[in-house]
Amino acid sequence: MLSIIVAYDQNLGIGIKNTLPWKLSDDLKNFKQVTEHNYIVMGRKTYESIGRPLPNRKNIILTRNSSFKQEKCIIIDSIDKVLNLAKEKPHMEIFIIGGAEIYELFLPHVHRLYITKVNAKIKADAFFPKWQESEFKRIGQRHYAKDQNNEFDFDFEVWEKQV
Ligand SMILES: NC(=O)c1ccc[n+]([C@@H]2O[C@H](COP(=O)([O-])OP(=O)(O)OC[C@H]3O[C@@H](n4cnc5c(N)ncnc54)[C@H](OP(=O)(O)O)[C@@H]3O)[C@@H](O)[C@H]2O)c1
Repeated sequence: MLSIIVAYDQNLGIGIKNTLPWKLSDDLKNFKQVTEHNYIVMGRKTYESIGRPLPNRKNIILTRNSSFKQEKCIIIDSIDKVLNLAKEKPHMEIFIIGGAEIYELFLPHVHRLYITKVNAKIKADAFFPKWQESEFKRIGQRHYAKDQNNEFDFDFEVWEKQV
């Protein structure tokens, strides 16, 4: 099964200058808990913004650069390889973790969205694509209040594609 996990603000902003625009510790904890022991798929720019493979996950990096190499990562050059992997391993959850280009490519193919809706309007240069809530059903939601570890209020929501 293919899933997207993303945090976006009220304008669907997800990043600025190849970094995350906020500090939300509890969101990072959720991200770790949800994605651990699964595949994660990211664009080369997001990989470079993280700077290392994320532990306890199979890291897949998408790039068109055939000489790009990273230890402990699977490097691929087309989304078809991920779509095939999802077909071959239907019992596994494969997480598309960004960024903007990669979300755009995979949004039509995913069954589940894990969305952190950040209660803010930040300056961004990377955005999540517009999506139709009517095509999905919300199956979970939890609110987090702003505190010393979380710069803004946010809601963590899980949505499933309607068949
Ligand atoms: N808030 C969040 O949840 C979240 C999550 C992740 C990332 N982000 C943010 O998103 C921003 C990065 O997003 P981005 O759109 O600039 O970059 P990106 O999606 O991370 O990576 C883009 C790169 O992916 C590769 N690529 C794209 N389409 C491809 C295809 N069809 N086949 C093979 N490779 C392909 C290309 O790599 P090459 O140029 O090497 O060919 C392209 O330059 C950053 O600000 C980051 O912090 C936010």
